[in-house]
Amino acid sequence: MSHDNDKRHRLLGRLGRQLACTAPVLVLAAAGVSLQATMENESSDSGPSTLSLFLSSAHAEAQGEVEGEAQAEAEAEAQSEGEAEGEAEGEGEGEAEGEAEAAKADSREAVKRPEGYTPVYSEDGANDASLLAQGEALYYDDSLSSNGLACASCHGSDGEDVGYQATFEQPFPHRVAMADSRFGMPEVHADEMVQVCMVAPMEAEPLGWGSEALTSLAAYMVEVQRRFAGESHDL
Ligand code: HEC
Repeated sequence: MSHDNDKRHRLLGRLGRQLACTAPVLVLAAAGVSLQATMENESSDSGPSTLSLFLSSAHAEAQGEVEGEAQAEAEAEAQSEGEAEGEAEGEGEGEAEGEAEAAKADSREAVKRPEGYTPVYSEDGANDASLLAQGEALYYDDSLSSNGLACASCHGSDGEDVGYQATFEQPFPHRVAMADSRFGMPEVHADEMVQVCMVAPMEAEPLGWGSEALTSLAAYMVEVQRRFAGESHDL
């Protein structure tokens, strides 16, 4: 088993332990590993959501390569035990936080609309039926990811629309917790959100800006957003 797989298994195991007492809303099945991820209601202020703990664990894993694995592990463990604030401050984390911000800014480059790019799908009007069909096909395509997942693995098939939070009820652009916490983006367009899920949960390279794949997936997500919000849609 590769080193990366080892790391992923540890991360998944840790996530599994964190989730023991919360209600599952999202089921992931990957490479023989099943785990349940849950997302607490965004509006509750009872601390960081499980999702953001998941993301910060993932982030700490990535940082590990830069900072030395042991430190990242310690940070991730501290956070997963809900002791993040006290402990992290006690360990003089200023430098690590600076590096984390810099890493966030770097990864944002991959998912943020580049300068001079004009999207070729509409976020406030209709999109071509053939574009939507193409996007739907890709939504089920696990070859887009490096970890065997397809968008539908997390977000449901046949119009189930799972794994989305209430933010998805608003038209794009809007705030999405993962894009904010992991990439420092206060709000995202549909194509940027596709890239966020490509890079983070799908563990893949971002799609080409203006590519058919990105355009059709973004157009499809605009319609799924309307369906999720209970509005009229073309799916
Ligand atoms: C491993 C699970 C996973 C996979 C695979 C995945 N996503 Fe996501 N996605 C999430 C999670 C978790 C969120 C919720 C993030 C949040 O609200 O903070 C999310 C959020 C989103 C949203 C934003 C919803 C909103 O509130 O606006 C869109 C759009 C989306 N995903 C599209 C995709 C697409 C397209 C793919 C495939 C390219 C994909 N996702 C693959 C887990 C996944």
